[in-house]
Amino acid sequence: MKNNNELNDSGRVIKGDCLEILASLPDESVDLVYVDPPFFTQKVQKLLNKENNLTTYEDIWKNKDEYCSWIRMLLIRLHNVLKETGAVYFHCDWRTTHWVRNLLDDVFSCRNFRNEIIWIYRRWSAASNALQRSHQTICFYSKSDRHKISNIFEDYSPMTNPDQNWQGRARDSHGRSIYKKDRDGNIEAYGKQKKGVPLRDVWDIPYLNPNAKERVGYPTQKPVELLERIIKISSEAGDTVLDPCCGSGTALVAAKLSGRKYIGIDISEPAISVTKQRLKNPTVSRSYVTSNGRESCSKWIYGDNDRKRAIFSVIRAKPVYRNKNLDGFLNLSFSNEVAGIKILDNTADIITSTEGFFNAIRKRNYKYGVVIKTNSFIQQNLFSEDLPVYTNILYIDGSEVERIEDKLLDFINPN
Ligand SMILES: C[S@@+](CC[C@H](N)C(=O)[O-])C[C@H]1O[C@@H](n2cnc3c(N)ncnc32)[C@H](O)[C@@H]1O
Repeated sequence: MKNNNELNDSGRVIKGDCLEILASLPDESVDLVYVDPPFFTQKVQKLLNKENNLTTYEDIWKNKDEYCSWIRMLLIRLHNVLKETGAVYFHCDWRTTHWVRNLLDDVFSCRNFRNEIIWIYRRWSAASNALQRSHQTICFYSKSDRHKISNIFEDYSPMTNPDQNWQGRARDSHGRSIYKKDRDGNIEAYGKQKKGVPLRDVWDIPYLNPNAKERVGYPTQKPVELLERIIKISSEAGDTVLDPCCGSGTALVAAKLSGRKYIGIDISEPAISVTKQRLKNPTVSRSYVTSNGRESCSKWIYGDNDRKRAIFSVIRAKPVYRNKNLDGFLNLSFSNEVAGIKILDNTADIITSTEGFFNAIRKRNYKYGVVIKTNSFIQQNLFSEDLPVYTNILYIDGSEVERIEDKLLDFINPN
C-alpha cells in the first residue's frame, strides 16, 4: 500500500489509483461500497474553495469504450472486496446510467439488482434544448441475497387519511382487499400508530446550498444527508464503508458520524487533504426538507396561517415568500397582467399594510392589487370608508375570493 495513508481505529484515507489500491485490500473485507466516480462529463471539473483556491479533477476520456472498461474493472475489484452480505451503491447520471446498469448486471448479476434510486433536487442550470435535469441515479446492487436492509419510513402523503391505515385488512372471496370487520360488522381498528410508509426509491434531498456549513468547495461534492441515508439502510454500527473515489470524503464523514468504519481512496492530493481535514471535525448541514418533507415547507411559506393557505389554493395564486408587504400574486385569466395579493388579518394595521402593499406592487410593475379582508379582520368593525383608497387596489372580503377575477373586472370597468 502507498505511504501517504492515514490509518486509525475507525478508518483509512488512501491516496492512489483506486484500481491499484483495491487490488491490495483483502477479499470480502468490506460491508458497503458507495462509488461516485467521474461521470463522463468530458470536462475538467473545477470549483473555488472557501479560501478561493481552485480545486479540480479531470473527467476526460477517449471514448465510451475506455470509460466502460475502467468502470468494469472497478466493479470487479469492488465485487472482490465486498463481503457476501454486502452491497454497492453506484452514483451516476443521465450520461452513463444505461451503461453502468449493464455493467452492474454483468458483474453483480441482474438477480442482485435492488433499486435504481432517483435522487431529485431543485437546482437550476442554464437553459438548454432539453428539459431541466434535476435528478441523478444511484444503482443499488447486493452481492448476494444475504444482504439485509434496514427499513426507513416516511410520512404518509398529505392526501392519505392515516386513520384508514390503522384499520385492519382482510381479503374477500375474490381476493380483493377489504376492511376487516368484527362479528357485529364494525370495522376493526388497531388503535396503534403506524411508522409511516416504507421509504420509496425517489429521494428528495436538497443539493448543498452555497452557504451550507459542510460545503468545502470540492467540485461535485454530495450532501452528507444523502450518504447517511444509504449507510443507514445498508450497514450496521461497526461495519466498514468503502468509497474508492472519495473526493472530499462525504461518504467517510457520514460513516464516521454514523459509527461505521471507513476506507476512502482518491487519486488526487487535494481530495485527500480536504477529506482528512473534514474528518477531524465531521459536520452535516441538516436540511429542513430532509427532516420534515417537502410538503411541510408550506408551513414555512404560510406560517401557521391556514386561512392564507386556503385562500391561495382557492384562487390559485402563487405565494411570495419572506415579504411582509406582499403575500403573493395572481396571473389574471382575462389579460396578461398580474395582480398582487395581500391578505389582511386581525393583526394587520390597515394604513401601513396597504401602503406597504401599494409600494410592493408598484416596484414590481403589477398593474393591480387585491386586498383580501379575512373574517377576523372584518370583525374589527371597520367601515369601508376607513380603508385607504388607491386607484389600482381592490378590497374584497374573504367570502368573495372565488369571484376575485369578476370583482376585479368590475373594479376596472365600473360601467
Ligand atoms: C464525483 S468525484 C467524488 C465526489 C465525492 N463523492 C464528494 O462528495 O466529494 C469523483 C472523484 O474520483 C476521483 N478519481 C478519479 N479517478 C480516480 C482513480 N483512478 N482512482 C481514485 N480516484 C479517482 C477524482 O479525483 C474525484 O475526486
